[in-house]
Order: sequence, then C-alpha cells, then structure tokens
Amino acid sequence: MRRSRSPLPAPGSRLAWSRLRAMKAIVIEAPGDENCMRIGDLPPPELEAGAIRIRNFAAGVNRADLLQRQGYYPPPLGAPATLGLECAGEIAEVASGVDRFAVGDRVMALLPGGGYAEDVVVDAGSAILLPDALSFEEGAGLTETLLTVFLNVFQLGGLGEGGSVLVHGGGSGIGTTTIDLVKRAGGTVVATAGSREKCERCLELGADAVANYREDDWVALAREATGGHGVNVVLDSIGGPYLAGNLDVLTDEGTLVLIGLMGGAKAEISLGALLTRRLRVLGSTLRTRSAEQKAAIVRAFLERFGAALAAGEIRPVLHEVFPLEEASEAHRMLKASTHFGKVVLRIDRD
Ligand SMILES: NC(=O)c1ccc[n+]([C@@H]2O[C@H](COP(=O)([O-])OP(=O)(O)OC[C@H]3O[C@@H](n4cnc5c(N)ncnc54)[C@H](OP(=O)(O)O)[C@@H]3O)[C@@H](O)[C@H]2O)c1
Repeated sequence: MRRSRSPLPAPGSRLAWSRLRAMKAIVIEAPGDENCMRIGDLPPPELEAGAIRIRNFAAGVNRADLLQRQGYYPPPLGAPATLGLECAGEIAEVASGVDRFAVGDRVMALLPGGGYAEDVVVDAGSAILLPDALSFEEGAGLTETLLTVFLNVFQLGGLGEGGSVLVHGGGSGIGTTTIDLVKRAGGTVVATAGSREKCERCLELGADAVANYREDDWVALAREATGGHGVNVVLDSIGGPYLAGNLDVLTDEGTLVLIGLMGGAKAEISLGALLTRRLRVLGSTLRTRSAEQKAAIVRAFLERFGAALAAGEIRPVLHEVFPLEEASEAHRMLKASTHFGKVVLRIDRD
C-alpha cells in the first residue's frame, strides 16, 4: 500500500482526516516476537468529543508494550490496537468544547494505546503541556511513569511527609521516576536493581539505598535505611516471588502497591501479618482507568508537581532514542534490560 501525502486539513475543518491521508504506524499482523512489528499505513484516528489530535513526534516504549505485542495485554475497549502508551507532539486539531489547549501547543500525553503512529487522538484530560525546556523525545518518556508513580505511591500508597518507599527495578522507567518524585517530596527511597552499575546510577539519581537483588538482602537493607522501621510504601512490579519480602519490609499500616507481575502471578503467604500489622495490599493499573479518572490524576499531579515540571526540573533519564522504524530494536533492548531509564521512539515525518 502506498502512503498518500495530501495536505493536512485546516484547523477546525470538518473534513474527516481518515479520508484524506494515511499515517505511518507500527503494524502487527499477528502477535509474536520483536520481528512481528513492521512499518505500515493506517487510517488516522477520527477526532472524538473532548479530544485533541496530536501530530506525534515521539513515543515512549514501556514494558507493557512487549506484553501487548505478544498478545498478552489487549488494549482496553475502544482504544487503538496500535502499541504505545505515551507520546509527545504538537496539537493539530482540537474538538469543540476543549478549552485547555489550542492548535500548535506542544503536549505530552498518556494514551490507552496508539502511540507508535504519526497521528494520535486522545482525551484532552490525558494531555499535559510540554515544558519549553523539554524535547519531544524527553516528553514522550515521561507521562506514563510520572502518572503511574504519582497514582500508586502518592495517591493510593498515601505517601506522607518524610515517608519511605521501596521500589523494585530502580533502573526502569518506573524506578528512576520513583526516585525522582519521592526525593522531590522529601521522602526516603530504597531501590533494587540487578547490577552494580545500575545500583550506582540509582544512588547518583538520589536513592538513599540500593540493593543488588542478585546478591544482597533487600529486606535487611530497606529496614536498615529506615532505622529499623520498614517502609511506608512498596511499589512492586515483580509479584509472586517478592510478595513475602514486600510484606515483611513494610512498617505497620504500610501499603504494598502491585503494578506488575514480571516475576510471576502466584505466591503463598501467611495472612497473619496483614491482620496484626494492619497492612494493605493493592493491585493497580493506570491504562484501564476511565478518561475521567485519568484526567483527575493529571490534575492532582499538576497541583503537586506541575511547577517543577514546567520549570524543566523533572526530566526522564533517557537511555536511547530509536527511529520508529527500529521499534523491534527498542523492544529487544527492554527485553534484555540493558537500558537504564527510558527508551523512546522518534517519529520522523516527511
Ligand atoms: N500497573 C500500571 O499501571 C503500570 C504502569 C506502568 C508500568 N507498570 C509496570 O511497571 C514495571 C516497570 O515498567 P517499565 O516500563 O518502567 O519497565 P522497564 O524499564 O522495562 O524495566 C523493568 C525493570 O525490571 C527490573 N527487574 C527485572 N527483574 C527484577 C527483579 N527480580 N528484581 C528487581 N528488579 C527487576 C529490570 O532491572 P534489572 O536489569 O536491574 O534486572 C528492569 O530495570 C513493569 O512491570 C510494568 O508493566 C505498571
């Protein structure tokens, strides 16, 4: 199929974009390994009520994309089938009634899918103005981790003044953002990582203590770092094999927030500790939440951290930027975990 390159409709034009041109996107014909992704042409999404159209310049790569590519993490109902949970670009079109944004604004956005593509349509409530100091590549690697960490550590985890957090995978997108936001909020953060080099980089970012999970006892380290009390919140993406340790390391009335199952979904624990120490265990996903819930999380995040974001103080740790055409390489890098921070796809437009 050849991609037609008709001129873009004028802002506010009532012409359907999908009838005017095709967009470049990553297409998956059947779920599989990294080789199942290829560049293809898709009709651009139609603008919906309450939404904005983003001329997309970059997309963040997230661990969930690897699962979706293999057929294990289907998009929520109504979301685009294309991969991509976050992006950054310029607003090309604004639905009537949306007054927070105007055509031409630079934005970064949280997406239920569809980020690996030239055109993105998303509810305006899921977008944030991209600070002038940040490039599109930087913006594309921020929204998913900022909102996930804010939701799970601060809102659901209830991290208070001077509180403490244990995050697994300190060198991941989620881990590096957790270190940043918790330190910004004046808390203590303990991380785990799988190599000495990653541990050192977590310390450089501001982590108070880091355990190499292949060698060290992270429960003992987290206790030591909190004066023997244990942590207030554990942000866990490993699951089964870490459940007992995660509960062990919590202080009384602490909260374990489970956001991933990289290590497995099953575990056996004694429920006694939950009762006697009044612990909370929560499971949480951001993607499946409604547009209204996401908009509320964005508003609360901006209230708390918006000034630091706008000032360019909050930035992602960008490990590598690949052109969209090399999405397979980006996925291989995440699978091998050779990255520290975020991997991003750059969308070069003709
Ligand atoms: N529920 C939600 O709403 C939500 C939203 C966003 C992300 N997530 C989840 O959060 C996790 C991180 O996502 P991401 O995109 O930031 O991932 P990522 O950058 O691909 O990083 C994954 C990290 O996990 C670490 N890791 C693997 N096994 C580990 C173990 N046994 N102990 C400690 N660390 C281990 C790896 O570090 P080493 O190289 O050091 O092993 C790697 O840094 C994923 O599970 C993802 O699905 C959930």
